[in-house]
Amino acid sequence: MKKNLFLLFALLFCGHAVATAQEGNECIRISTDETDLIYKTAPNGRLYQTYLGKRLLHDADLKHLSTASKPGSDGSAGLQGFEAYVTAGGGDFFEPALSITHSDGNMSTVLKYVSSEVKPLDGNATETVIRMKDEQYPLEVTLHYVAYSDENIIKTWTEIKHTEKLPVYLNQYASSVVYFERPRYFLNEYSGDWAKEMQLGSQELLPGKKLLETKLGTRAAMYMYPFFELGLGEPVAEGQGEVVLGTIAWTGNYRFTFEVDKVKNLRLMAGINPYASRYELQPGETFVTPEFIFSRSDRGSGAASRGFQAWAKRYQLKDGEGDRLTLLNNWENTSFSFDEKILSALMKDAAHLGVDMFLLDDGWFGNKYPRNNDKAGLGDWQAMKTKLPHGVPFLVKEAKAAGVKFGIWIEPEMVNPKSSLAEEHPEWIIKLPNRETQYYRNQLVLDLTNPEVQDFVFGVVDGLLTENPDLAYFKWDCNSPITNPYSPYLGEKQDRLYVDYVRGLYNVLERIKAKYPDIPMMLCSGGGARCDYGALRYFTEFWASDNTDPIERLYIQWGFSKFFPMKAICAHVTSWNRRTSIKFRVDVAMMCKMGFDIGLKEMTEDELTFCKQAVATYKELKPTILDGEFYRLVSPYEGNHTAVMSVGEREAVLYTYNIHPRFAEVLYPIRLQGLDADKFYRVEEINLMPGKTSAFKENGQVYSGDYLMTAGLRLFTTEDLSSHLFRLCVVE
Ligand code: GLA
Repeated sequence: MKKNLFLLFALLFCGHAVATAQEGNECIRISTDETDLIYKTAPNGRLYQTYLGKRLLHDADLKHLSTASKPGSDGSAGLQGFEAYVTAGGGDFFEPALSITHSDGNMSTVLKYVSSEVKPLDGNATETVIRMKDEQYPLEVTLHYVAYSDENIIKTWTEIKHTEKLPVYLNQYASSVVYFERPRYFLNEYSGDWAKEMQLGSQELLPGKKLLETKLGTRAAMYMYPFFELGLGEPVAEGQGEVVLGTIAWTGNYRFTFEVDKVKNLRLMAGINPYASRYELQPGETFVTPEFIFSRSDRGSGAASRGFQAWAKRYQLKDGEGDRLTLLNNWENTSFSFDEKILSALMKDAAHLGVDMFLLDDGWFGNKYPRNNDKAGLGDWQAMKTKLPHGVPFLVKEAKAAGVKFGIWIEPEMVNPKSSLAEEHPEWIIKLPNRETQYYRNQLVLDLTNPEVQDFVFGVVDGLLTENPDLAYFKWDCNSPITNPYSPYLGEKQDRLYVDYVRGLYNVLERIKAKYPDIPMMLCSGGGARCDYGALRYFTEFWASDNTDPIERLYIQWGFSKFFPMKAICAHVTSWNRRTSIKFRVDVAMMCKMGFDIGLKEMTEDELTFCKQAVATYKELKPTILDGEFYRLVSPYEGNHTAVMSVGEREAVLYTYNIHPRFAEVLYPIRLQGLDADKFYRVEEINLMPGKTSAFKENGQVYSGDYLMTAGLRLFTTEDLSSHLFRLCVVE
């Protein structure tokens, strides 16, 4: 609170200091512990970004910041400056954040500063609200910035409203634009596909535009993930250098534009993808953009990600500070082939393994068109009588008798053409009326722009929970992008489809959260194609990939850890890549929210004993694994080994993996991070196969945090596909 007051004072002072220095000027300072984002008005009444960088120490210096442009290299006047919310037709020649066609056809907008205010929020956060308007048209634009001091995160979004006599058209409506003035810019992007999530790629940004975007409709991710790391001046590094990590909280088409302008400034714009989404804004209606969330740090992407992880747990992720359930899932094990007997046995297996819950996956529903494969039944959410004659209540009871909770898979936004739902409500399906229909996994998307469809989707969850109040968990899947983009509900207003679909989805999720605030839910989308912070307000975790080959997972989890706390990333032990040992698979899953999706009968007695012990160890270490500070120590992208660690209050867990080491490879010590230099830690190998003892001479020894972080430990080996986990405990 004290800090908040200080911040408020600094903000007011900033305005005052500049007002006296340069008449008519306003100064708006948005600060986290590490970063300052500073705006000022110019004599022309418009608002400009004057600074975005390391937090300045002295308020007295703010008067030196200028709204003036950087001159062109030829000595010409250069650009007008970094306008806070750059508009089309306003004199800037680069990509606009806002492009409007006014009701009289005029396509220009010029925004003048009106006022600003600062409000303290819960936690150590403040919200700055900046109002602007067009002098020629009754158009108001309000910029919002929430600064989370401790987590070093800024969240920003924009509201657009007008009172012209007729509607206006929003052609482009970014959430935000920020600018950087550095000699070079380097982008880390994450692309992918099914089973290839979050693959890192890097490039230097040169003059012109680079877009990261998707047009998938139902989900933000898959081909291109809505996350980036930006290296300012030098390529992104884990432990040092100025970086920006960013994402957008939107579960649909998004676009990040990175534009290097003629004087090599970088303009970074984030927002809904305007593709096929011109928005007709009615007089009096307010258009609210999604939130652009970013962190700027001088301490590399490790520090920025820890900020993201802490912020997500505290402010964004559903039940971010709560516990997570370990589970046994049946998808990889049984696929669609199961009955009550098989499931009851699996529930007993779950209890035997020691996990908290059994999760029943796809294939439990559909009667006229039974869901025995992925070609039929989607949309008909009644238990399949042939497989489950006693319905879901019987399964919940069986789980209780076995001593575990019961969770269930649903995919309520989708429909198979072979379903009673498709027969009864063809008008609820997104589908072009006059073209051949394209299918993705034999299914189509329901039209969530339609309130009746929203009721139906809400009803799927509500119905199951009303019938089964003890149902403990949902896995909510979304296996298709929007194919055949045409909403029967929207009629002639098809350009609303992509925006209103996501809004419809949020309406449903909001209703579920309001009625069932405590139910944990996993967000899934044909693997990890839905993992944005818009949807994660309603979900406790997400499925990172159907690819559970532990080698691939090391890369996928490395990528996701940049933006998400480990408790949000689901990782299951399965039979993918049987060349790897069960121990290796468990050791990889254990760095995240761990589960199993494997038949216990596949395992030897020793492997089963190992897994049971690993579950018990995991439960004991959960506070450190899920809520500790996460450090990426050695990147799998840079060699044949990788290591990460989670650091809690009085202990840490260190994970080391040898993927495919080379013959006689030179092995370097692993330097740990995040420890207290002056404390002493006992290092103990955990997760050993039954009867095995640790081969490391370091095992059981005590080292200072300083030694561990400075000299490090030689814990990598040349053994192919091997892994070792260590617990570090503070010794008094
Ligand atoms: C998707 C999910 C899987 C599984 C199947 C069921 O592919 O990613 O985990 O739930 O659907 O059909």
